[in-house]
Amino acid sequence: MDSARNDSGFINYTNSRQVYWPASILSLSTQFQLIHSHLLRWAPMRYRNLGRTGAVVSEIGFGAWGIGKQIWGGTDDAESKRALHRALDLGINFIDTALVYGNGHSERLIGSCLQERSEKVFVATKIPPANMAWPARGSVQEAFPANHIQASVESSLRNLRRECLDLIQLHVWHPSWLAETEWSEELSALRRQGKVAHVGVSINDHQPASALELVRSRKIETIQVIYNIFDQSPEDHLFPLCNEYGIGVIARVPFDEGALTGTITEETTFHRRDWRNQYFRGGRKKEVVQRISRLQPFLEAEKCTLPELALRFCLHHPAVSTVIPGMRQAKHVEMNVAVSGQPPLSSWALQHLREHRWPKNFYE
Ligand SMILES: NC(=O)c1ccc[n+]([C@@H]2O[C@H](COP(=O)([O-])OP(=O)(O)OC[C@H]3O[C@@H](n4cnc5c(N)ncnc54)[C@H](OP(=O)(O)O)[C@@H]3O)[C@@H](O)[C@H]2O)c1
Repeated sequence: MDSARNDSGFINYTNSRQVYWPASILSLSTQFQLIHSHLLRWAPMRYRNLGRTGAVVSEIGFGAWGIGKQIWGGTDDAESKRALHRALDLGINFIDTALVYGNGHSERLIGSCLQERSEKVFVATKIPPANMAWPARGSVQEAFPANHIQASVESSLRNLRRECLDLIQLHVWHPSWLAETEWSEELSALRRQGKVAHVGVSINDHQPASALELVRSRKIETIQVIYNIFDQSPEDHLFPLCNEYGIGVIARVPFDEGALTGTITEETTFHRRDWRNQYFRGGRKKEVVQRISRLQPFLEAEKCTLPELALRFCLHHPAVSTVIPGMRQAKHVEMNVAVSGQPPLSSWALQHLREHRWPKNFYE
């Protein structure tokens, strides 16, 4: 792998492995497929610093909630594994998962996939609150007592087949917990024991301001937050502060759970075990369709698809270290990775996308 740092401090990456096939023994369609996959392999993935952790991560990361199955009905393990392998083939080196995703299933799938690979991959996982309350509820002793933190880390280490977790995130956060020290002392102890390398927090849905004091406290190195065309609120206060304090930003839910892929119509039905039957209930799909139709001029002006626009929007902000679309299919991996090679959005698009903020909370 050859890499070089460009002017903006990002790492440009090229993969120097090449395989040559004698064209005469391949059919035309196979030749086309090979050229296509070769071009994808050569699509330059860009890398960014994960705050002050010292890690350099792919700007497109792998969101691994869906591959945990359970509440993402219709997930197929074989295809999930293909998606993971394709992601690594194409230069993704950052995966976000959680102990609670399929009760360890997502972590175990990642652990088994990484055993078949030689690349160094940065895996971020999360400790669920002991009271299993999302958004954050109760005292920090109820959510993150020391023994629970310890037990969760041990489970994740086993599932991921690792001796040290690259990044452990509290899976929920309440600002009142900052005054307590038990959770941060326990995480520091786990760092000293070599079981955890870095510590972060994943913020409650649509509540970026709830982490401002936490960032100022310097108790964490990364923040995970919802950031997409509809929810641009992290730009107001959180992102400038993260820049100032050198906090790595993991931008989650870039497609608003599928709304910003353009695949949702008023008639869309999800698998009976897909939690999005709840997320997009009632008249919400109709609202989504109306909002999405207003984004059409951007697709024409930027000559891109809606998923590409959604990812390019997230990538435009310099505070973002990596954006983590949820991917269960190899074809989505290929489409999303290719965005890293696309030019930045025009200033016209960025200025006018501001008008498409949509304050809502479909998780409620
Ligand atoms: N509290 C937390 O910490 C928290 C909460 C939510 C999410 N997260 C993290 O953030 C990640 C991303 O969020 P998410 O997965 O919930 O939502 P998302 O990334 O906004 O959307 C995922 C949906 O987009 C679809 N998709 C992906 N690429 C596509 C493409 N190129 N074209 C069309 N459709 C595409 C997926 O399709 P398929 O259905 O075919 O897979 C899936 O339905 C999660 O995987 C997880 O790692 C963390």
